[in-house]
Amino acid sequence: MRLDKYICESTSLTRSLAKKALHRGEVCCDGEVIKDSGFKVRDGMTVTLDGNEIGLLGQRYIMLHKPDGIICSTQDEEYQCVLSLLDIEKPDILHIAGRLDVDTTGLVLITDDGQWSHQITSPKKTCGKRYRVTVADPLSADLVAQFAEGVQLNGEDGLTRPAELEILSAHEALLTIVEGKYHQVKRMFAAVGNKVTALHRESVGAIELDADLEAGEWRYLTDAEVASVAAEKASK
Ligand code: URA
Repeated sequence: MRLDKYICESTSLTRSLAKKALHRGEVCCDGEVIKDSGFKVRDGMTVTLDGNEIGLLGQRYIMLHKPDGIICSTQDEEYQCVLSLLDIEKPDILHIAGRLDVDTTGLVLITDDGQWSHQITSPKKTCGKRYRVTVADPLSADLVAQFAEGVQLNGEDGLTRPAELEILSAHEALLTIVEGKYHQVKRMFAAVGNKVTALHRESVGAIELDADLEAGEWRYLTDAEVASVAAEKASK
C-alpha cells in the first residue's frame, strides 16, 4: 500500500495532511525518514508518525458499558453521543449494532463491520438480547407464559416473537428478546399494563457485558466474542 494511503487509513489525517507530514519528515518506515508519498509499505514494516507507531485499523469490534443519559446516535443537540466515549482513531466510521434508549444502560456493541452487525440487528435473525428490567407494579407469574406466546404492541401488526421472562423479585426480571423493535421492552410491559422504571442490557447473543467495565468504559471484543456472532448464525 502507498505510504500516504497507509497514513490516512491508520490515522484521522486527510491525504493532503498526510503528504504535508511526509514532506516535513515526520514519517519513518523501519526507522528511516521517508518523504515520498508513493513509497510502498511492505507487510511487517514499522511505520511511525511523529515518533508514534501507527497501524492499519482493520475491522474493529467494541463493547461499551453505556451510562444513563448518553445517546446511541452519531450526533445530537441535547445529549452526548456514545461514540464520543471512544478515545480512538476514526470513531466516525463505526456504527452501533443495536441501539439503546438514552435512559437505558448496559451493553452496546460497536463496529465497522456491517455484515457482522447485521447478524445482530436483522429482524430475520434470532440473536437474543437479555435485559434486566425493573418495573413499577408487581410482576405476576402468568407474564412468563404471556411473553412466551407474544404480546400485542401498540401500533404493530401481529404479536411479538416468543420472549423468555425470568422473574427475579416482585419488581425485577430478566427478559430475553430476539427482536429489536423501537422501545420494545418498554412497550411489552406497557402492553400488559406495567411500566419499566429501569432497563439495563446484560448480553447480546453469547456476548456478556464485562463486569470489569464501569459505566462509560469500553474494550475491544475478544476473537471468541467476535466469532460467537457468526457461530450462532451457523448453528441455526
Ligand atoms: N427496549 C427498550 O424499550 N429500550 C431499549 O433501550 C432497548 C430495548
